[in-house]
Amino acid sequence: MTGWAIQSGIGIVLLLASTSIVGAQQPPALKTYHGRQIAQTMHYAGAPWLVRESRQREEDCRTLLRELQLTLGSTVCDLGCGNGFYTLELAKQVGPQGTVIAVDIQAEMLRLLQARAAEQQVENIRPVLGTVADPKLPVASVDLCLLVDVYHEFSHPGQMLQAIRTSLKPRGRVALAEFRLEDPNVPIKPLHKMSKQQIMKEFPPAGFKLVGQFDGLPWQHLMFFARDDSPLPAIEWRPPSQSDP
Ligand SMILES: C[S@@+](CC[C@H](N)C(=O)[O-])C[C@H]1O[C@@H](n2cnc3c(N)ncnc32)[C@H](O)[C@@H]1O
Repeated sequence: MTGWAIQSGIGIVLLLASTSIVGAQQPPALKTYHGRQIAQTMHYAGAPWLVRESRQREEDCRTLLRELQLTLGSTVCDLGCGNGFYTLELAKQVGPQGTVIAVDIQAEMLRLLQARAAEQQVENIRPVLGTVADPKLPVASVDLCLLVDVYHEFSHPGQMLQAIRTSLKPRGRVALAEFRLEDPNVPIKPLHKMSKQQIMKEFPPAGFKLVGQFDGLPWQHLMFFARDDSPLPAIEWRPPSQSDP
């Protein structure tokens, strides 16, 4: 099935990927993971939505970037980078001595990213064409792996989490941004949102611990994970009780 569309609650058309991009030689894609229905991959034809003029206002992307607390010279992975909305900003924040490894499974997305990087003369980006189960990252080399609006559409989340874990330095972190399922005012279809409770069902069993979170974004959760053997201290997680609003 190629390029069929869904409407999000804000009337934005997201084109969903054809099965051709999910890779014929991969293990079969999962339909559910820890009880969650997996969303389809966003097709590159929907890329203009990722760089829409209203995104900063709607998602407060500058605050998200600030909360990453990046330092010059870092190695950052923008996993599921799309056309590079965040990649270019990350590249500026880590400076010429730093590197952004920009991974996507759609070569067309990487081409769009490279065109934008050339236009802005940003040179410290390394595009990588990953597969649905392997982001092809170097071992124990990544300071921060950013996942914005992508984890919920991984067709092979278990393999991806293992690969991400292997790529992290001991003090490396994953920054996970997902639209808040708990908030009916976030105008995105439920399949493209995640609750914190669901995230905590999936990350710790894959060898991660929660080391930080930021609740000040308008639409998204922002949660930070490290390897469970990291010297970074874990923070407490309390699942919502029945009496919570
Ligand atoms: C909704 S877009 C988000 C793009 C970008 N993170 C942003 O916020 O602008 C999701 C992207 O993740 C990519 N993607 C999906 N599964 C992936 C995987 N297993 N590895 C790498 N990229 C993946 C898709 O091709 C798509 O470009």
